[in-house]
Amino acid sequence: MKKELLDPASRISGVEEYYFSAKLKEIREMNKSGAPVINLGIGSPDLPPSPETIEVLQSEASKPYVHGYQAYNGIPELRKAFADWYRQFYHVELDSDREIQPLVGSKEGLMHIAMAFLNPGDVALVPDPGYPAYSAVTRLAGARVLNYPLLPENDWLPDLDFIELNGVHNAKIMWVNYPHMPTGKRATFKLYEDLVHFAKIHRILLVNDNPYSFILNDEPLSILSVPGAIDTTLELNSLSKSHNMAGWRIGMVAGRPEYLNYLIRFKSQMDSGMFYPMQKAAAKALEAGPDWYEQVNVVYRKRKLVVHQLLDNLGCTYSTDQSGLFVWARIPESETSGRDLSERLLREKRVFITPGFIFGFQGEKYIRISLCQPAEVITEAMNRLS
Ligand SMILES: Cc1ncc(COP(=O)(O)O)c(C=O)c1O
Repeated sequence: MKKELLDPASRISGVEEYYFSAKLKEIREMNKSGAPVINLGIGSPDLPPSPETIEVLQSEASKPYVHGYQAYNGIPELRKAFADWYRQFYHVELDSDREIQPLVGSKEGLMHIAMAFLNPGDVALVPDPGYPAYSAVTRLAGARVLNYPLLPENDWLPDLDFIELNGVHNAKIMWVNYPHMPTGKRATFKLYEDLVHFAKIHRILLVNDNPYSFILNDEPLSILSVPGAIDTTLELNSLSKSHNMAGWRIGMVAGRPEYLNYLIRFKSQMDSGMFYPMQKAAAKALEAGPDWYEQVNVVYRKRKLVVHQLLDNLGCTYSTDQSGLFVWARIPESETSGRDLSERLLREKRVFITPGFIFGFQGEKYIRISLCQPAEVITEAMNRLS
């Protein structure tokens, strides 16, 4: 006889399994029979890291003394490589010992920030549409999500007057992400200045999530380039997209030392330092010059043109000027929702495209196509759809 199940903790009733975690299982099931599904959903780069990065990983891993636990704040070479990267590409000076904390991917940093700063009853301002993890980590920390809409008529930028009128009371964190996923919109320096000012006057911790600034974007920008931003802002960054290292789980957070100390109090209870050879290899990856980003972007630019064709065939509308690994597109009037369209294409054509609703209410009429498949695969998807 089966024993009765225990109830889970109430904190997990506010969150569901991550959409892609469930969807990818469904796709794997579908792949057991019939033609494999073409997955244009997730943004996991299919291109490899640089050969030098792999060489360092291999040579370091073959050494006998590199397999032990590592320091919680990462090896000095990695922190220094992050600081050099910020100086070279974002023109931001960071103290590599005190203002940079390496992370096991930037996603874990979201959770650390929520746990280190949010109390039950606090409010976090969350973009809609936006990366679903911002809401999830807020709820897991017992705090409340207050969505701020990003609208096409406002060019997907936050309307700070609207947010002020609709209540910043109790808001402790504002999650921000530019270049924005899923809309591909970039921030301007002026927007970052306004956000920092807003955060200062309302005593809010601003968290900018910045993993897409090197993808289809000529001018990488860090919010920390605003003078004084570091007083009130944390910035997350990652090698997942910029260096084709999503599976390695290497990211970072930069900010004032006191705040990084709060994070490390939580993080050091959750995990231990990353594998030494990976940290050495990541430091190598970060040495890449502008040519590295350009050759990756050449590939994405070509793919993007095919995605535009596919979207034209579906009757969708979109901006051709989007940064990041995706194209965000509005579905035609004849379609009821992005969700129905996505489900229909999956069942009938065996092509998976992300429905916009998973990013929030404002995404209902949108779909998002990833550039992480070779152009030939995107073309094959287009043929299946036609
Ligand atoms: C906006 C945004 N932030 C963070 C992440 C997570 O990145 P990482 O691989 O560094 O955890 C993603 C991944 O898709 C993302 O789209």
